[in-house]
Amino acid sequence: MDGNGRWARERGLARVEGHAEGARAVRDAVETAARIGVEYLTLYAFSVANWARPRGEVEALMRLLVDFAKKERSELRSLGIRVNVIGALEDLPTGTRHAVEDLIRYTADGEKMTLTLALSYGGRQDIVEAARALAVRARAGLVLPEEIDESFFHREMTTRTLPDVDLLIRTGGESRLSDFLLYEAAYAELVFLPIMWPDFKPTTLLESVELFSRKERRFGRTSDQVVRGEAAAFDPLDPAE
Ligand code: IPE
Ligand code: MG
Repeated sequence: MDGNGRWARERGLARVEGHAEGARAVRDAVETAARIGVEYLTLYAFSVANWARPRGEVEALMRLLVDFAKKERSELRSLGIRVNVIGALEDLPTGTRHAVEDLIRYTADGEKMTLTLALSYGGRQDIVEAARALAVRARAGLVLPEEIDESFFHREMTTRTLPDVDLLIRTGGESRLSDFLLYEAAYAELVFLPIMWPDFKPTTLLESVELFSRKERRFGRTSDQVVRGEAAAFDPLDPAE
């Protein structure tokens, strides 16, 4: 969700105003995703690298997160949306962490869509921590190196309950991943949009999903094999994989 700051600057507003407008776009995007049947929506709300931003901006983002958790929780619950977090939730200020934990508990019974907030999240960090956890278990004799395959490894990551990414959308005009879901987006369709995040409308999501549905996903096979319906050697979309 990139471009809040530029959206504000273009209007002569403070960056924080851009984030507030961005939060409104989040609400609309979440509701639209649930309505059209998206089962997993993951939002890159705050990266590990974002801690380096000016203190006032970090505090404003944390406040917006608390507002979102408090104001949206009934709506999220009534829509059947379950909230989940990836990243280092323990690194957030206590008040923010508690608000997010309350939101997770309050929406725990949602079965329509899982909304995952990436908070203090870094893709490399998540991979490295999984490797470290496995190394510790291997040293203790609890896991054999030959047992470690992709699904085994994934179970150590904070994304363990999520399927692989199908569609990854980045607004703001940059064509980069910026450390988002590096492991999980191996076969994702990438959509880079020139618009700023506050301008992301429900129709923008519908258009991106429409674009996605026209892609032929080959997972390493040839187009002919896909047309004949031959199975891939693995199914990256299967959450059980
Ligand atoms: C939102 O956009 C990113 C976050 C949610 C932290 P930016 O704040 O990165 O906006 P730009 O890139 O400065 O325009
Ligand atoms: Mg940015």
